[in-house]
Order: sequence, then C-alpha cells, then structure tokens
Amino acid sequence: MPQHQITLTVNGDLHELVVDPRDSLLDALRDKLELRGTHLGCDSGDCGACTVLLDNEPVPSCLVLAIDTDRREVVTVEGVLQNGEPHPVQKAIVAHGGVQCGYCTPGIVVSSVALLNHHPHPTEGQVREAIAGNLCRCTGYQKIVEAILDVSK
Ligand code: FES
Ligand code: FES
Repeated sequence: MPQHQITLTVNGDLHELVVDPRDSLLDALRDKLELRGTHLGCDSGDCGACTVLLDNEPVPSCLVLAIDTDRREVVTVEGVLQNGEPHPVQKAIVAHGGVQCGYCTPGIVVSSVALLNHHPHPTEGQVREAIAGNLCRCTGYQKIVEAILDVSK
C-alpha cells in the first residue's frame, strides 16, 4: 500500500506525517504522535471516546481517515489546557464527581469544549445534545451535565 505524506496542525504544532491510506486520524494521533489521551473504544463511531476537534468541530477520530486531514487543524484533549492548567470543564467535571473509570472523559471534555466555544451559555438540552455521542457506562451523565452547566454560568 503506498504511503502518503500529510501536513497537519495538532494542538497548535505543525506535523509532517507519513500515513497509510487506511490509517485513521485516531491511529495517527495515538501511534505516530503518541497523543494517547484520545481513547480507542468501539472503533466504529458509536462511543465518542476518540472525539477530537477537526477544524473546530467535534468528530469521532476513528472514522476520519488521516489522509483527509492534510492541511487541517486538530485539537485533542491534550490541547485544551489553558496556560498549562486544566480547562475549566475538566476542573468542573472532576469537582462534580463526573469521572469514575475515566475512559469516556477525554471525549466528553472535547465535546464540551466544542459546545462552549459555540454556545458559551448553553441550555441543559444543548449540553445533553452536545454529549449525546459520548457514551459513559459509569456516571449516568447527570453530574457531567451539571458540571458543564456550572462552567457556563
Ligand atoms: S472509538 Fe471512535 S467512536 Fe468509539
Ligand atoms: S466514567 Fe467510566 S465510562 Fe464514563
């Protein structure tokens, strides 16, 4: 299979990567850039554990081909820090007890950051819709929703 060279910006840094046409963006992030905060769950677009921002929109990175991200901009959970500090959403989710096993948390954080970037003061319905693609088997979602609403106050 011929390899392809792509250039993409990840968390503000420009990277040149050689990828297989079958590689997903998730593969590229975890295996080539060693950004392992983005989790592999279902690998089929159903769980949201692999959510990243692609040109400021949340996407399941397991469903995006790496070659389709040439000259585009990606933000992972590692890139949402603010001045080296956890993002307010991260602090709030922890403070509200919205983390148990933590497997879903990076994806939920990225989806929440995307929501707040677009809607700084979302309704509860908008919060629930924003994280509807992020499956959490532990928390029941209520504490996560309360945390996101708290940040938006
Ligand atoms: S691993 Fe991508 S949606 Fe589940
Ligand atoms: S905290 Fe375990 S899946 Fe969400």
